[in-house]
Amino acid sequence: MWFGFLASSLILSQVAAQYASTFPSFIPLVQRSPHFGSWIAANESLGTPANQWPITWTNRILGWQGFVRVDGSSWQWQGRQGGELARTLGAYITPTRTIFTIEAGPVQFNVTYLSPIEPSDWVLQSFPFAYVFIDAWSTDGNAHDVQFYSDVTGEFISGELANTVQWNTMQTQTSLYHQMKRTTATPMTENNNLSEDGMLHFAAELASPGLTYQTGPAGEMRSQFISNGRLANTQDSDFRAIRSNWPVLAIAMDLGSITQTSTPVVWAIGLLRDPVIRYVRDAGIESRTSYFWTKYQSIGDAVSTLSSLSVLREAELAQLDAFIADFPSARNRAEAFDMKIMSAASAVSQQYADLVALNLRQTMAALEITTAKRPSGEWNASDVKIFMRDTGNSRRVNPVEMVYAALPALLYLNASLAGLVLDPMLEYQASPQHLNNYAAPDLGSTYPDATGNSTNQVLLAVENCGSMLVMALAHAQKSGEGGLINQHYTLLREWADYLVSNTLQPTAYTTADGLAGATSNLALKGIVGIYAMSKINEALEQQGALSNYTEHYRDTATRYARDWESLAVSGDHIGSSYGNPSPWGLVFNLFAPRLLNTTLISESIYDTQAAWYASQAVSAPAFGFQYDGNDPKRVKTHWTLLTAASVAKSPVKDTLISMVHNRILIARAGSPNPTTYNSDTGATSVIGGRASPAQGAILGLLALNLPDQTITFPKEEETVDVDVATIAGGVVGGVSGVLLLVLAVWFYRRRRRQIKEGKFKMAAPSSATPGLPTESSFVTPFMTTIPDASVATSPSEGYVGKRGPLGYTNQDSSSTGTNTPGWSLKVAGNIAAGSSSQVALTANRSGPSVDGESIYTSQVGSSMSGDLSLRQEVEQLRREMALLRNQQMEPVQDEPPPMYVPGVLQERTSTLGPSNTAPRK
Ligand SMILES: *[C@@H]1O[C@H](CO)[C@@H](O)[C@H](O)[C@H]1NC(C)=O
Ligand SMILES: *[C@@H]1O[C@H](CO)[C@@H](O)[C@H](O)[C@H]1NC(C)=O
Ligand SMILES: *[C@@H]1O[C@H](CO)[C@@H](O)[C@H](O)[C@H]1NC(C)=O
Ligand SMILES: *[C@@H]1O[C@H](CO)[C@@H](O)[C@H](O)[C@H]1NC(C)=O
Ligand SMILES: *[C@@H]1O[C@H](CO)[C@@H](O)[C@H](O)[C@H]1NC(C)=O
Ligand SMILES: *[C@@H]1O[C@H](CO)[C@@H](O)[C@H](O)[C@H]1NC(C)=O
Ligand SMILES: *[C@@H]1O[C@H](CO)[C@@H](O)[C@H](O)[C@H]1NC(C)=O
Repeated sequence: MWFGFLASSLILSQVAAQYASTFPSFIPLVQRSPHFGSWIAANESLGTPANQWPITWTNRILGWQGFVRVDGSSWQWQGRQGGELARTLGAYITPTRTIFTIEAGPVQFNVTYLSPIEPSDWVLQSFPFAYVFIDAWSTDGNAHDVQFYSDVTGEFISGELANTVQWNTMQTQTSLYHQMKRTTATPMTENNNLSEDGMLHFAAELASPGLTYQTGPAGEMRSQFISNGRLANTQDSDFRAIRSNWPVLAIAMDLGSITQTSTPVVWAIGLLRDPVIRYVRDAGIESRTSYFWTKYQSIGDAVSTLSSLSVLREAELAQLDAFIADFPSARNRAEAFDMKIMSAASAVSQQYADLVALNLRQTMAALEITTAKRPSGEWNASDVKIFMRDTGNSRRVNPVEMVYAALPALLYLNASLAGLVLDPMLEYQASPQHLNNYAAPDLGSTYPDATGNSTNQVLLAVENCGSMLVMALAHAQKSGEGGLINQHYTLLREWADYLVSNTLQPTAYTTADGLAGATSNLALKGIVGIYAMSKINEALEQQGALSNYTEHYRDTATRYARDWESLAVSGDHIGSSYGNPSPWGLVFNLFAPRLLNTTLISESIYDTQAAWYASQAVSAPAFGFQYDGNDPKRVKTHWTLLTAASVAKSPVKDTLISMVHNRILIARAGSPNPTTYNSDTGATSVIGGRASPAQGAILGLLALNLPDQTITFPKEEETVDVDVATIAGGVVGGVSGVLLLVLAVWFYRRRRRQIKEGKFKMAAPSSATPGLPTESSFVTPFMTTIPDASVATSPSEGYVGKRGPLGYTNQDSSSTGTNTPGWSLKVAGNIAAGSSSQVALTANRSGPSVDGESIYTSQVGSSMSGDLSLRQEVEQLRREMALLRNQQMEPVQDEPPPMYVPGVLQERTSTLGPSNTAPRK
């Protein structure tokens, strides 16, 4: 096989454990955010990657080119500009890396696409950048003159090639960077599943050997490199459409005469958006941005913002520098991460390890870790929420069933991540904006607008209540964090009560896949949900929850489980609906009791199903079982993988895994790593689930081994003021947390020092890059502030108010000093309205024992009507106090915002000749 060479030579060695053994039809390149992901088709006759454009998950071309020049001759190693093609000798895929080994004449090199997965450092994880780096060596023992070149087009930043883009090149003291954005960006919009408000970055360390740069027409830049082995260090100022003579951001490096690289050639590539999410909160809309900002509390965002789309702010520059300087450690961390997780995965099977290698990057890339500002204008590092895009299916935000599918990966990487995804979902549904007494399917249907959706979704109520309860308990058990279940106890009880009434005979409900007939599997999820509530209640007994509720939910779940077993099993297996052996489906919800480590469902049921799957596998279609007979011939990998984890003790789990594995090898369906396809042909039909986070289900088998933690509860008045969020936790999470912290603090300090000493701004242009403006001299056209009415003038921008009028414990201690530790009941709304301490104390004593029924009544009843005006007054008072505090705080800022001086365009590119007309595509 084409990729065979390295695979066979290495797979037997110790190191092999960290690599995938075979190659999928689409190879992931970099994947870092919902709008920044790339793939390349694995196809020998097309040449991979030497003669192909990288693509997005919707198969849109990303103009990203690579050349290598050896002793004056050039080879193309990525893209389709043309010229002699380098030869790919092998490829490796790990969870964070894709490595191609490529030959160009007497030189071979590894090009590695590294998408960091930093599950325990939210600053690093939320910075949507990746590294592309090259290690090269001579194969004939002689030294050779070697240069490398790479460029990117505007295809990363718009789904419409007629859109005009502008760009700029700058340097900090340590980095050179190009940036490109749409001239008239449209905030918070997507076009062809690409964001229309992002800024593309292409950067390198200034100390890179023989660094040169240029912006200009693609063909011209490329032929310039092919002729000279270097670029002209000039900028093109003719801003134009993405496809109009294809402006590119190019960076080249000249290694001189070498027998091998001593340090790798490194490019950094990233796509920044800001804000990244609009989130409904306290009846307003809050703009949220990437979490990494919290690291730069006092650097501020003084000059300009990405939302007005002019230039990079200080914090982003600092993080870009830190990212580039951090490369050696980031590489070590990635290797350690891959080794650890792939060793665990290989212990299951090599096919399993392959799927883990392929799936993790895309699961993490569907997430955005966000934060918002305090009313005072500073970043609030303890305000962390994660949003997930339903990549591959829709633009839904935090889609419950996809989070449920991805949960094993989140728990395994760092269980705290799961809590941060659940947090906004619970918070929204505890707010008065959400009126249904059952769980919502998502936070909205047009990512990145997480504006909530109270549409009547009662058909999905059992599915969503069950999933939410299972996830809430799984998060608490595996992370030990009790804060979320504590805060949302009332809401969770409401959902559990809904299930008590509806789950055993759910014929009026459908599954998240839209099936009305798959009631056995659906009922099971609801029953496990009720069980989860009993465990949640039990954990909260130390916080005052009454133990009779623990018994109530446990007994109900147990009773229902017995009933379910007799209803669902028809003959020798479970049918899709009660009493019918046919059709049948994968009972993937049997995974939940396993994950929660409960014996709620009898062992005999698991044995029965394992035996059934094994008997059916003999005649199964090539690419796996249909997930349910009510939806013929459709495979869903996430449900297949959760099913495999549910029968982990049986060899049939390997059969299920290899069914999914079969599909990743075929090229016919032409889309990257889908969840959903035809069981006979592998073709993705209407819904594909391409690049979906649901593939995180692969970690189900490993997540079964996660030990339960003791659930603890945050103290009420504790203000978690983390400057750099290094959260130790998870199985692979803790790898080098302390090191990261030290590093991050060091960068931060150094940066501050530099700013104080004036070093940072006054950096002289590097001798390697004559004519390059320093960061303080921005190209004029770039400073043109684009009027952006929706962002600038939105009255709801930023953090509006404090807590909702009802639905939360009031965290603002100024008004409720005696607030109840930990508890937050829906009745808390009344606290603001009147005798706060009295109500709070009552809540304290009786805790969650407040009857679910009456809480709900008070929410829709008294809270919403009578207390309104009083509450508004209190709210107003609080806002005024906040304003006052802000005013007091302003002079305290010890560092003035760094000054940016708009410069003039340096070195107008008069030397540019007529455009090279070589075909670009
Ligand atoms: C190139 O990549 C292969 C496969 O990962 C690896 O075995 C080899 O050590 C790498 N070579 C260098 C010089 O990094
Ligand atoms: C985004 O991708 C989905 C899934 O492939 C597709 O159905 C949809 O049409 C795309 N949206 C746009 C605007 O292209
Ligand atoms: C910071 O965020 C946390 C978590 O959302 C919140 O409890 C706290 O009140 C916020 N602090 C300020 C000062 O806004
Ligand atoms: C709410 O969800 C429903 C059902 O999925 C959908 O039709 C509707 O467009 C959504 N509304 C918003 C505002 O997202
Ligand atoms: C639990 O006890 C409380 C207080 O004694 C009571 O109000 C409530 O109805 C009981 N709940 C159940 C499910 O028995
Ligand atoms: C490779 O690409 C060629 C040309 O598009 C196509 O005909 C061939 O089927 C592909 N091969 C595989 C294995 O996908
Ligand atoms: C599951 O529970 C059993 C006993 O109930 C215990 O021995 C086992 O260690 C638990 N497994 C995990 C992964 O916590």
